[in-house]
Parts: sequence; C-alpha cells; structure tokens
Amino acid sequence: MQQFLRWWWWLLLWALSCCVFSTDGAANITRVIIVDQSGQGNFTTLQSAIDSLPDGNSQWIQIYIKQGTYRRNNLASWQNTFKSGSERHLQAVAALVGGDRNSFHDCAFIGYQDTLCDYRGRHHFDKCWIEGAIDFIFGFGQSVYSRCVLNSVDGGWLTAHAKTSADSPGGFVFKYCTIRATKMTYLGRAWNQHSTVLFHKTWMPSTIRPEGWDAWHVIPNQYQMTYVEDGNIGAGSNTSGRVSWLKSLPPEQLQGFLSSIEFLGPDRWFDKQP
Ligand SMILES: *[C@@H]1O[C@H](CO)[C@@H](O)[C@H](O)[C@H]1NC(C)=O
Ligand SMILES: *[C@@H]1O[C@H](CO)[C@@H](O)[C@H](O)[C@H]1NC(C)=O
Ligand SMILES: *[C@@H]1O[C@H](CO)[C@@H](O)[C@H](O)[C@H]1NC(C)=O
Repeated sequence: MQQFLRWWWWLLLWALSCCVFSTDGAANITRVIIVDQSGQGNFTTLQSAIDSLPDGNSQWIQIYIKQGTYRRNNLASWQNTFKSGSERHLQAVAALVGGDRNSFHDCAFIGYQDTLCDYRGRHHFDKCWIEGAIDFIFGFGQSVYSRCVLNSVDGGWLTAHAKTSADSPGGFVFKYCTIRATKMTYLGRAWNQHSTVLFHKTWMPSTIRPEGWDAWHVIPNQYQMTYVEDGNIGAGSNTSGRVSWLKSLPPEQLQGFLSSIEFLGPDRWFDKQP
C-alpha cells in the first residue's frame, strides 16, 4: 500500500464521522468502506481498510470511519508496544500521508511530537482537528488546511515544512483556521531553507511568540524561506515583532498559494469529492 496512503506509526486517530478520500480524477465514489470497531462495518481497524485498497488507485474511494478512538494497538499489522496513558508523550508519528490527492474531512489527529506527517503529494484537510506540540504538522507536502483547528498542548512549533528545492512545488497553506495554544508557540520552524508556510485569515491567540518563526538550523539561509502571514486575526496575529525574514508576496504570487485551484490543481480534484 505504498502509493496511496501509508499510515505508519498510527498512534491515535479519534474520529467523529471522519471521511478520507483518495482519487486520481474520477468524479464519482466507486467504493465506500466503513470502518467500525463494533464490527458492523467492512473492517474493524483502519489499517486493514487501507490495506484493502489497490495500489495506484485512480478512483474515488471513501473511507467512512465510525466514531471511536483508533489507536496504534488497534491495527492488525502492529504489535502493541505502548502502554496506555503515555501515548501523548511518545515521539511517534500518528499519521503519515504520502499519497497524491488525498482529502480528509472532519478528522482528528492527536499526538504530541510529529503528529501528522504530511509527507509528500497534494492533500486537502477540511475541518480537521490536529493536536500536538513539537513540529506536529511536518513534511514535504503540498497541502491546504481549511477551517482546521491546530491545538498546541505544550508549546513548541506548529509546523516544520521542507521542500527538496526552491522550485519544487510544496507548502502548507492554512486558511480560515483557528490556533489554540496553552503555552508560547512558534508558527513554524524550517526543516530546510525552502520551507514554505502561509497563514491566511486564521485566528491566532496571544500565545503565539512575537517573533513567530524559528530558522532552526537554516541560518544563514533563512531569507530563502517563504513564510507569509496574510489577513490573520487575534492577539497573536500582530506581525510587528516578527522575524525580519517574514515575507510579503506580490498579489499574483500570494493568489497562487491562496487559490486552491492554482495551488492544488487546475482540475479541481478537491472540489469533486462526492
Ligand atoms: C457520475 O455519476 C453520474 C450519475 O450517476 C453520471 O451521470 C456521471 O457520468 C458519472 N461521472 C463519472 C465521471 O463517472
Ligand atoms: C461493505 O459492507 C457493505 C454492507 O455490508 C457492503 O454492501 C459493501 O459491498 C462492503 N464494501 C466492501 C468494499 O467490501
Ligand atoms: C502591534 O504591536 C505594536 C507593538 O507592540 C503596536 O504598536 C501596534 O499598535 C500593534 N498593532 C495592532 C494592530 O494591534
């Protein structure tokens, strides 16, 4: 199941009618798979549902996850080596999304460090709850997060993005999201000098660090990074104390990121979810 979604180290996914879609272009759902822990669906574990999908899938397949907490020890392919109660402080990836054109609706990803590995490919997360503390959304992905809640439970960095080169596509675009943070938190730190992250019309609490961003080990190349804040609101959105290398893009370039059609694909695959 390499080409579609690889969910390694699935630590904990809590879902209330969470839907995951994947496609390569067809407009109609060809298959609905129901995951239900009580045994009323097609599978009782998420991993077995994912393992049932064909490699190189080119159809819309909807995985409907009935409400429940799906932990790593629920997954058929993994031994349970975690003790309950300590999950939140494990340095483990809760979910790894490495396919192209995957879309998640009303999902919750809960972890501590490295919760969501948005590894590579184009992804759309809508109305999801993503929780963690350290680099909890990270990877090389080219993704739009709309209307999501980013819940930082212990200070740290919301994102750690990287791109292989300056010209390669990629970036995390957060639109109309809400940030919650119990302790002082950075918006992101740079996994490499091509790191690209935008926040647009997102609510930021006072616990966002005034400097906003952390160059990590990219110094002295931090000027190459593309970090943009546009039209955000809330006490933490004041950019007057931000790092000097925060960018402001010309309108056309900004639009290229903010328009999901330009950023994720002119065929509007993310709009075609049935
Ligand atoms: C989707 O389904 C509708 C109605 O069932 C049909 O008219 C349409 O051709 C289908 N589209 C594709 C791309 O299969
Ligand atoms: C899932 O279960 C439903 C109801 O039992 C059945 O109609 C459907 O064909 C099953 N889907 C798959 C992909 O096995
Ligand atoms: C942002 O912070 C600066 C410095 O603290 C302050 O002068 C300015 O009025 C603030 N801007 C807004 C819109 O609150």
